[in-house]
Formats: sequence, C-alpha cells, structure tokens
Amino acid sequence: MRLPFMFACPGRIRLFLTFSCCVFITTCFLSSCNPDVVAKKRPKIGLLMETLKEERWQHDRDFFVAKAESLGADVEVAACNNDDNLQIAQAENMMAKGVDILVVVPHNGEICATIVNKAHAQGIRVIAYDRMIRNCDLDLYVSFDNERVGEMQAEYLTNRIPVGNYILIGGAKTDNNALLFRKGQMNVLQPFIDSGKIRIITDQWATDWQASEAMKHVENALTKTTDIQAVVASNDGTAGGVIQALSEKGLAGKVLVSGQDADIAGCQRVVEGTQSMTIYKPIQPLAETAAEASMQIINDQVVEKALKAINNGKIDVPSILLDPVAVDKNNMMETVIASGYQKKEEVYKNVPVEK
Ligand code: GAL
Repeated sequence: MRLPFMFACPGRIRLFLTFSCCVFITTCFLSSCNPDVVAKKRPKIGLLMETLKEERWQHDRDFFVAKAESLGADVEVAACNNDDNLQIAQAENMMAKGVDILVVVPHNGEICATIVNKAHAQGIRVIAYDRMIRNCDLDLYVSFDNERVGEMQAEYLTNRIPVGNYILIGGAKTDNNALLFRKGQMNVLQPFIDSGKIRIITDQWATDWQASEAMKHVENALTKTTDIQAVVASNDGTAGGVIQALSEKGLAGKVLVSGQDADIAGCQRVVEGTQSMTIYKPIQPLAETAAEASMQIINDQVVEKALKAINNGKIDVPSILLDPVAVDKNNMMETVIASGYQKKEEVYKNVPVEK
C-alpha cells in the first residue's frame, strides 16, 4: 500500500508540512467564527497598588481602570498592603497571566527594582505610578512635582509662623516621595533654622505612613514641651494622628498643621480649623495620563507628554510631572470642591451654616 505523499517524505519536510496544515486549519476555523480574535488580543494592564486602605488610592484605581477600559484595555488590580514580597509575587502572577505592561505604586522604591528587572527579562515594560522606582531601567515615571509639594507645605506655615518651635513628621522612608516632600520642606525651612528663627523640637518619620505613628511621635514631643507653634505633617493621614495628639493637650486648632491629599477627613479638618492646609493633587488627570501612556507604550507609540527626565539613581527616567495645589479654608470651594474631587455637603458637614 502506497503511503500519502506527506508521510513518504523525509522527517523535517513532513514536520513542516504537518505544522503548516495545523496553522492553516486553525486560522480558517478562527476567522470563520470571529475574524477579530485573530487580528488583535485585547491589551491587559497589571496595576500593582501599595494599599487600597487609604481613600486617595481608591480614587487612583477607579480613575485608572475607567480610562484604561475606555481605551480598550483590561486591567488587573492587586494591593500588597505594605508587604514587599507579596508585591513581587503579585507582579510575577500578573506576568504569568500575560499582562502587556505593569503600572506600579511601589511600597519600597528600592526593592521594587526587582519587579522591573523581572518584567524586562520577559519583555514587559513598567511605569512607576506616583512614586519613583529607584536604581533600575524604568520605562516611565508619572507623578506630581513632589519636591514642590514639600515647599508649599513649609511656605504655608513659615508665611504665618516665621519664628517658633516646629515638629517635623515625615512619611514612610521606603517611599521615595516622602524623601522628596522632606527635601522640599527643608528647601524652605533651612534658612529659618540657620538664622535661629525656627527650632526643630523633633524630627520623626511615620513607618508606612501610619497615623498612629505620627500620633505617637507628637505625644512624645508634647511630654517634653507644649510650646509648639507648627507641625509639618507630610500628608492628611499623618496630620490626623498629629491633631489627635494635639487635641489631647487642648492644642488642636492652636498649632498650625500641614497636610496633603485633600482626603475627606483632611478637608473637613481644614474647614473646621484644626488642620491649616492640605495639598490637592488632581488624581483624575494623573490616573488618566498613566492609562493613556500605558496604551501608547503597548502600541509602541511615543509618550508625547513625557517631557521631563528624572534620575532614579541609575538612569534619567522619561517622566510626566503634574502640578500640586495648596488649599486652605479660603480656596477650598474653587479648588477641591469645584473639581468635583470632594462634595461640598461632605466637606462642610460639621460646619454650622451661617444664617
Ligand atoms: C505618597 C503619596 C501621597 C500620600 C502617601 C501615603 O507616596 O504621594 O499622596 O498619600 O503616599 O499613601
């Protein structure tokens, strides 16, 4: 019995012919039932968050996912709750599931370089969202001018209290932003310190941005002296802890306190007078810019908004920096409320309506 042609041929030709037949049959089958499936796989973005416990990050997630989906992508979200090993495992998991790009809010800006190196080994690019990932070949950094945030906080306080005793409460030292906020704060404070006008009573950092940490540091300082004029708190979360400690000594509203994030509790304290100011960072434009850039990178297009280059200790990372806004009770309406980020009725909930 004579064997069919393809089986009579030498090994490799037979293999090639068999393979081409399979591809041909599959393509015919797929194009017959849905021509698009063949053409383009829906882009998949992996969004790695540090936490979703703080109000701010919930906004980031929601705005990012909505924009990315409107651009035709699917988004997988994970939060590591300050656990570096979990964040790396979550990244590996997403890469195994075939994400096209990773967008990362690093818990630890140094340790997260591991994720960038692992992703690049698989041809996956990485965007650092809001916080820089240091000492690696990062593809893009999208954030606010965080040094300017620190300057605005210290300017607000020194414009009102140019002479006196200050407490400094920094954020998580694992967060590159906390270091940038502090750098900005000292750009403004140092001349006052050098001239002896301002005395730093205590300078502490709140592990993982915990409000309880900030409260503890201020309680300790107040056991030494209650002669405090201002506290440079780096965000609203820690400002809340600071103000709790001050209120235990009847000092809430008498000592100026800075903040950041315009979260609802922070905005309420500002209009009620226990917190002096906050920094509003428009989260919607940040998240939408990052979603657009993700799609541009996936499609090998130029990220035209990446006009800056910020050094991360290894390279000058292409970067997009948005502008922060200083807010106090005098401009709350035309900034945070007008943008729709917070609702008037919620912010002024505890403020008696003037007759
Ligand atoms: C920073 C962020 C701030 C603040 C803080 C705590 O990196 O820029 O907005 O919220 O983390 O989560």
